[in-house]
Amino acid sequence: MLMPPPLSLYVHLPWCVRKCPYCDFNSHAAGGELPFDAYVDALVRDLEHDLPLVWGRPVHSVFFGGGTPSLFPPAAIDRFLQAASARLRIAPDAEITLEANPGTAEHGRFDGYRAAGVNRVSFGIQSFDDGCLQRLGRIHDSSEAEAAVKLAQDAGLDNLNLDLMYALPGQDLAMAEADLARAFALQPAHISHYQLTLEPNTVFFARPPQGIPDDDLAWDIQERCQALLAQAGYAHYETSAYARPGRQCAHNLNYWRYGDYLGIGAGAHAKITLGAEQAILRRWKQRHPAAWMEAAGSAAAIGGDERIEPARRPFEFMLNALRLHEGFALADFEARTGLARHALEPALAEAARRQWLVAEAGRVRPTALGRRFANDVMTLFL
Ligand SMILES: C[S@@+](CC[C@H](N)C(=O)[O-])C[C@H]1O[C@@H](n2cnc3c(N)ncnc32)[C@H](O)[C@@H]1O
Ligand code: SF4
Repeated sequence: MLMPPPLSLYVHLPWCVRKCPYCDFNSHAAGGELPFDAYVDALVRDLEHDLPLVWGRPVHSVFFGGGTPSLFPPAAIDRFLQAASARLRIAPDAEITLEANPGTAEHGRFDGYRAAGVNRVSFGIQSFDDGCLQRLGRIHDSSEAEAAVKLAQDAGLDNLNLDLMYALPGQDLAMAEADLARAFALQPAHISHYQLTLEPNTVFFARPPQGIPDDDLAWDIQERCQALLAQAGYAHYETSAYARPGRQCAHNLNYWRYGDYLGIGAGAHAKITLGAEQAILRRWKQRHPAAWMEAAGSAAAIGGDERIEPARRPFEFMLNALRLHEGFALADFEARTGLARHALEPALAEAARRQWLVAEAGRVRPTALGRRFANDVMTLFL
């Protein structure tokens, strides 16, 4: 039996000051004044249109992602959260995260976000090396990044994430270590540490920058940084995520545990378990901000809908769950895919034989070897 899992809400805010050359997110350079109020109105219409998918279910986390949500003034975030609270049961202890670009931080902003209900901020820092920041086309330097984090802390926001990237053009091991040292000095609750990837349809993919570390150096940086993060008290709990005790990102954990999420805003994706129909629905919205705004509140805003057939569910579930060091409970596999655990058995047995996964006491978790060969592990479940 498919049992509806915890529900999250993702809200996409699609504009940035400038498009970074490595970024393939649905983000668009702001050309002039942005229509904040009209966008919030469209978000509310989009939410109302999706409400029948989730009647009565509590929402355990909200995530404003982008793009650069911190371009939106606090009053716009406040108006949206009030409208959402009037339409959805947002749990009193819900984690409410807003992504922020340090180049958009200004005095008073974070007090406003906090007053609106935001209780977690995720900063796109990328690096504290000014040369690296320039090569990445960032709009801020390292001192602005530090100042932005301090502004959020002064506003009483203590649940902060810093996004860092590594294997950057011109970066060596010492520079990657120095980035972490500057991050630790700010004492964030959480650090996301991503290897720079060259994504198709980006400027970096078309014209790769000089000086990108080769695979051996990237591996050395990753291993050394993992050790430094552990020493500093950040437990590695997902491929790229590290947290102080009790500070894992509840919203992302729900994705990785194959939970449900509504997705509103341009290009946002949703996954919803429909208990009565014993189906899992995926829905995504039109990507282009103007087209989505125009259509929001009607079926025309939907870019596509599909049902995840039972045969595809084990692979999808594993693709998420095996990112987590804790792995998953077989009982959750059954409740969230509607399949019996024996659907996994041949692949689990093979993965165990290769020492990629360990199964004990009703749980399955990846070994260090399994994490290293994650793609090979996944193909066993295709
Ligand atoms: C949507 S952005 C969030 C914040 C905000 N837009 C900013 O950049 O300041 C999410 C994060 O994904 C990471 N990211 C984006 N493109 C990446 C790439 N090509 N390779 C690795 N990490 C990437 C960056 O660390 C970025 O902060
Ligand atoms: S600011 Fe963030 S979302 Fe915007 S282009 Fe840069 S990395 Fe992408």
